[in-house]
Order: sequence, then structure tokens, then C-alpha cells
Amino acid sequence: MSTEGSAVDTLTIEEAAAELERLAKEIAHHDALYHGRDRPEISDADYDALKRRNDALEVRFPELIREDSPSRRVGAAPSVTFSPVVHARPMLSLDNTFSQEDVQDFVASVYRFLGRLPDQSIAFTAEPKIDGLSMSIRYENGRLVTAATRGDGTTGENVTANIRTIAEIPNELPKGVPAVVEIRGEVYMAKSDFLALNRQMEAEGKQTYVNPRNTAAGSLRQLDAKVTASRKLKFFAYAWGEISEMPADTQFGMVQTFKDWGFPVNPLMKRLNSVADILAHYDEIGLERPDLDYDIDGVVYKVDSLELQARLGFRSRSPRWATAHKFPAEQAFTEVEKIEIQVGRTGALTPVARLKPITVGGVVVTNATLHNEDYIKGIGNSGERIRPEDHDIREGDTVIVQRAGDVIPQILDVVMEKRLADARSYEFPKTCPVCGSHAVREVNEKTGKMDSVRRCTGGFICRAQATEHLKHFVSRNAFDIEGLGSKQIDFFFEHEDASLQIRTAPEIFTLEKRQQQSLTKLENIDGFGKVSVGKLYTAINERRSIALHRFIYALGIRHVGETTAKLLARSYGTYEAFATAMKEAAPLSGDAWNDLNAIEGIGEVVARAMVEFYKEPRNVEVITRLLEEVTPQQAEQPVTTGSPVAGKTVVFTGSLEKFTRDEAKARAESLGAKVAGSVSKKTDIVVAGPGAGSKLDKARELGVQTMDEDEWLALISG
Ligand code: IVH
Repeated sequence: MSTEGSAVDTLTIEEAAAELERLAKEIAHHDALYHGRDRPEISDADYDALKRRNDALEVRFPELIREDSPSRRVGAAPSVTFSPVVHARPMLSLDNTFSQEDVQDFVASVYRFLGRLPDQSIAFTAEPKIDGLSMSIRYENGRLVTAATRGDGTTGENVTANIRTIAEIPNELPKGVPAVVEIRGEVYMAKSDFLALNRQMEAEGKQTYVNPRNTAAGSLRQLDAKVTASRKLKFFAYAWGEISEMPADTQFGMVQTFKDWGFPVNPLMKRLNSVADILAHYDEIGLERPDLDYDIDGVVYKVDSLELQARLGFRSRSPRWATAHKFPAEQAFTEVEKIEIQVGRTGALTPVARLKPITVGGVVVTNATLHNEDYIKGIGNSGERIRPEDHDIREGDTVIVQRAGDVIPQILDVVMEKRLADARSYEFPKTCPVCGSHAVREVNEKTGKMDSVRRCTGGFICRAQATEHLKHFVSRNAFDIEGLGSKQIDFFFEHEDASLQIRTAPEIFTLEKRQQQSLTKLENIDGFGKVSVGKLYTAINERRSIALHRFIYALGIRHVGETTAKLLARSYGTYEAFATAMKEAAPLSGDAWNDLNAIEGIGEVVARAMVEFYKEPRNVEVITRLLEEVTPQQAEQPVTTGSPVAGKTVVFTGSLEKFTRDEAKARAESLGAKVAGSVSKKTDIVVAGPGAGSKLDKARELGVQTMDEDEWLALISG
């Protein structure tokens, strides 16, 4: 089940890893839509919520930070149509803050970093965060030479010809400006121009744009600069890149200089001296927001003194001297037209509210997840009340919808005054709406608590579970069969002809052979064709040999996500060894059971789920047929002998200078060590870089061996 609504501190490591994986994919998907194709599917608030969730998970489980983590990237890589421009100085991102406390923390951290006392006042600037596209415009000897988008922060796209069409951006600067000047700021489209453009698009029968930001992006990415010219783009200057001679020594002074040079600057920028003043300005800008002719999504605070900015410096992606205080997620009222139940791969019955379409934060919302029957009643995951008792969600209710904290919009509350007289409490089905089997809430043997999720007990006979199972089997981190998506699975599942039917995974691999002997040809069916059928068979055949962890993950065992599958593959090495161990572990005692539970990262719930899975004859039968078609490869075994750290548990802490955390982890693991995120009695070695804090203290307290990076390097190379 998805864990996305659960509090971060209630998640197991497997759940967190699975969620981080999902978030990495999801955020990358939205990045691509946002930066590459200018057609986002979610609001910025939602996007921020995803990133925040990712950050929170990474703070709690630093050992799970992925290679492809969204926290390591700024924006998306540039698209291909424009030539690349390497920025003279990287274009960084801003950290986000969401509450007054966050802002207080930010200001306090600036004081702390600089070793200042609160009475040695530090001035900040506060200005709107413009929701457009950042641009770096380079002038040499007063003439515009290149303009580039941010791209991935290091390399952007060369959009010089297009930027030259923007009337507000000078092509030439006044005499006496520094020889090299890079002005940075935001290109945007005015709300009024956006509305006018959409009216025109509609009149011409063309597809309308989603919001001003994406329209501005789309308008800039035109290969034909004439189109850009017709779009009335605008600009605010607020920062700089390379500059050969500094014309001012404060943020405020720099922006005033840009104004003198002929650039538009935002009139709401202020220089302020206290947190109270900063927050008051935030409120003021918030009040003006609806009346501004451009979209803003927050207020940016920057340390005013450039000398202090230089001392504060940067973290990996963002300056320590600035933060973006975002406006809260938008909410709206709408009606619940219907409550429907979806059945997932593991049989979970998930209620979904079908809403009367409503625009929230610039995006049309038609569905909201209701998670489970308790949520509908207003009861949270730990049995706590999340809404007053009579505020259960009913069909026909008017509700407050929020797009934030989740990709999927949330229903926050019910507007009781609007409840219809004949509205009836939603009766959660006790049987599966797809197959009619009993749907039950399991009781956790250990805690005695009832699971919040009701599950269909139909297993393989349930069409929903079976198709979801197949969809999981072919999904990207499992068998990854191109050309076999959700639609195709439904098609093959439903097909009555035996040569075309796929009801279990092995049948994917017998499809080609069955087709050769059949007269009902797939290539003659609408939507397939000779070429795509050929490609499909190739894609299927390419997977006849598959990595063991993918094979295990693809089986769809409950609680076994990609990370667990990798652990299992690494621990058992071959499928035979794994399957034998699972069968031998059936009594939930004995060596096989103990070995399984001893694997770091595998808890009892997961272990039980695996044993249960292998107790089901039907599962074993399907796997036996699958193994006639597919060969799982032997997993690579890490070197565990002859290494001085083999079998040791190592914790890395502090800011590592000789290697990145990932490098350190990968290297240690390849030498047979286990890398943990926190120090305990089981820890053997703590490697501490500069700035190490509580983990180092704890290690000393527990008498765990500690060393610095050099000592560690000496140890592992010795
Ligand atoms: S300052 C080193 N000021 O927000 C930081 N950025 O999330 C330089 N943005 O990439 C950026 N309004 O596209 C700054 N008044 C403002 C801004 C602003 C919008 C954008 C900009 C930046 C992003 C960071």
C-alpha cells in the first residue's frame, strides 16, 4: 500500500525506501513536464509538497538517499533543441520555508553562522518570488551577447534570439557599465496577457495554456523568435552572475543599479531589519497577491550585505543567505459527486471521491483519495480524530479540497451547513466490488490493532488483483517490458482467445509461441500492427534472463519493495537458495527463519509475508511455470573475506571531505561492510568528518571505535 499519507516517523525502512523511489520517479516526471514540455500536471504547491516529503524522508533515513534523488538536482536537464550554454557561475535554487517558525529559524541560522548577537542587526531584503523562468543575460562591453535559461543549474539553453525580442530587456546598457555583466532575473507573462492569449487560442480552436508560467516557458522555447516576439513577455531583474566590477555592496544597491541601467525591478522589494518586519512584509505582499498582474508563489528573503553573503556562502544547491517563504497551498470548495472503490494489487480497497471539477492552484481537480474507511469517518492512522465526529464524508457533501502535502488532492473537511437533508453516511463495502469476495480488515497479531485497510480476500480470482499484479510484474523496476503497459495488460487479460490471453506472468512469455499456432493474429488487431508486435516480442524475449532482485520484486510479495528485493538477492545469491530458504522458514522458527530475520533491513512483518507467499500452492505453481521461461541471474556477491571491514557495521557522520557519502557507502559495502544511518551498540566503526555532532558523541559514549576519513582510507586500503 502507498505510505504517502503516513507520518514520516511511523514508516519502516522498506516503506521509506519504496516511497523515496516513488518520489524520485514522480518528481522527475513532473520536472520533465514542467521544464521540458511546459505542461505540468500538478500545482507548484503540490510539487513542493512532494519535495518536502522527500526531504523529510531523507532526513530520517539518510542511508536511503538515492543516486537519482530529487534533492540532488536543480530543475531538469536542458532540452535538446537549443544549443547549450555553460553558466559562468552556476544558477542555484532557493531553499523553501513554509511557516513563521521556519523563517525565524532561517534568520537565527544566519546570525549563528556569522557568530552575531541578535542586537548586531543584520538587514535582509524581502521581495516577491516571481513564478516565471529564471534567465541569465550576459552583456559584454554594454551589449547583450547571450541569454540562457537555468537548465540544470550548470548548463542552460541558449535563447538569445528570443530574449532579444522582449522589449523590457535592454539590448544595450548605458556607458560606463562594467565590461562583463550577467543580469539574472525572471521572465514571466502578465496574467492579463495570458488571459488574452488563451481567449485568442480558444477562438482559433487551439488548445489553451494551463497557466502564465508555462505559457512563458513555451513562448521562450520557440525556435522561431517571431512567435516569442508576439507573446509580450516581461522581465524582473533580481540577481547577477559574473560581473567584472561590483557596482554596489548590498543586494538592495545592486538591484537599484540594475534599475538605473534600464532593467525592470520589482517595486515591492524592501530592505528590513527584523523578523517581525520581514513577516509583516510577507503578509502585505500576500494581501496584494490577487491584485498583482503577475503570478507570485512566495516572498524571497536575502541577506542584504554582499560581504555577509560571501561569508555565508552556499550549500550544495542553494545559498545560505537566502530563502523563499512560500505561500500556503490553495484550497477550494467543491462537491463529492460519488465515492468509488479501487482495488489494488494486494487487494486493498481504496475509496476515491469523484469531485465536481474545480480549479485549485491553477489545476483542475476531479478526484481526491479518501485513503480508507476510517479516513472517511474522520479517523487518522493511529486512531486519532482528524475531523469532528459528524464530519464524515458523504456523497453529495460540499467539501474543502486542498492540493498540498500529497500529489493526490486531499479533502480537508466537510461544510456541514451545506450537508443535504437526505445525505447518508457512506457504507463501506464488506465485499470486493470487483469479484464479490469478502473484504476484511486484518488484525495485527502483535499489536492487536485492526488494519486501517480493508482487503479483498479473492486473491487470484479477483480480476482487479490479478491485473494489478501483472501490471506490477511488467513495471519499470520489475521486468520492465516495453510495449506492455496498463492498457495492453487489460486487453490481454480480457481476451477470450486462448492464443491471446494473459492471466498470469508466465503467459507473457508463451504469447509469441501461442500466436504462431493461432489464426487470430495480434498484428491484425487495432492498436498493434506488425512492427509493434515484433517490438513487443523482442522486449519480452530480452527479459528471459533477468537480475535476481528484479525477479523477486516482480513476484509482488506484500511488503517486498525494490530495496528489500535487493537485500534478499544479495543475501541468497540465487533464486533456488532464496526459494528453498522461504519454504524452510515456513514453521516461523529454525535456522532458515532465523537467517531471514537476521538480514539487516528485513523485519518480521516482511519475513512473515514472504513465508506466507510461499505457503500458497498457487504462487509456487505460477513461479514454477515462470521459471520454465525465465532465468534469474545469480546476484553479485560482495567481497566479504579478506577485507578488514567485512561484516562490520559502519556509520559515516559529519561533512565528508575526501569522498561523498555515496562513494563512502558504496566502497564500504563492496568490502563487505554494512553501512548504517545511526549509531548503536551494534556499530563497529564511526567515521567522522568535520562538524560531526551527536553521532560521534554517542559513539564515544558507547565505546565504539571512531576514526577520521584518513584513518578510514588507510584501514580499507591496508
Ligand atoms: S534569487 C541564488 N529572487 O526562484 C538564488 N529567485 O527557487 C538566486 N525566483 O531559480 C535566485 N523570484 O527562478 C531570486 N526575487 C527572486 C525570485 C527568484 C523568483 C526564482 C528563480 C530561482 C528560483 C529558486
